[in-house]
Amino acid sequence: MTKRIPLVAGNWKMNKTIAEARELVSSMSARLREIGGVEKVLCPPFTSLMAISTMLAGTDIGLGAQNMYWEEKGAFTGEVSPLMIKELCKYVIIGHSERRAYFGETDETVNKRLRAAQKFDLTPIVCVGETLDEYESGRTEAVVARQIKLGLADADSAFAPRIVIAYEPVWAIGTGKASSGENANGVVSKVIRPAMSALFGEATAQAIRVLYGGSVNAGNASEFFNQPEIDGALVGGASLKADEFAAITKAASRLDRGQLTID
Ligand code: PGA
Repeated sequence: MTKRIPLVAGNWKMNKTIAEARELVSSMSARLREIGGVEKVLCPPFTSLMAISTMLAGTDIGLGAQNMYWEEKGAFTGEVSPLMIKELCKYVIIGHSERRAYFGETDETVNKRLRAAQKFDLTPIVCVGETLDEYESGRTEAVVARQIKLGLADADSAFAPRIVIAYEPVWAIGTGKASSGENANGVVSKVIRPAMSALFGEATAQAIRVLYGGSVNAGNASEFFNQPEIDGALVGGASLKADEFAAITKAASRLDRGQLTID
């Protein structure tokens, strides 16, 4: 029986100098270490990965990058390769909506990154979600299904259960206007798991963890974690506050679900 172990990841975005990052990790790591039954991941900017990896060594707190390029090395000025990420991190966020909106990320480049994660044995946290316009015009289902289908295409069936999806409606990110738990749960059950089932089969689709992201805070986290299809959270703004992030992580640690096996 494979349970979906809850996962809470902090996406720090473009925040914190190295000194500030160290300070934040010092103020939260002892508290996070006391919380069991949940996978905990911090995703600081590239510049702080080295310092934070040293601080987290020997703890059960994982480290993730916020992006990576798909080629191993070469003339790609400004990019960071999966081989380099692999030296420091176990996780990598792929296809965040800010990367899609501001840096030209497409479903095709998301897929290249996903396949690079597979090749380099990194756990990808793949972000999907509709914009406000898509939401208001009733296109959520079509958009999210397409993002899953194209973004996850050609992943090996052995690797697929490692993939983590973050369902992040763009209209809920950084706005303070989170989705309702029920709405997010509906998108996961009606769109995301069926799209994954079409790619990998039902058992694998049930084994893949799906997080919610978008204005998660200590006050609303349980609303999401109480939903049967939501296995944790990708937290932006609230992950920059030690108390808040610890409280969200604690709420996720109470999750206990996912009775299905992968064969
Ligand atoms: P937010 O960001 O929690 O600040 O809304 C979430 C995210 O972008 O991953």
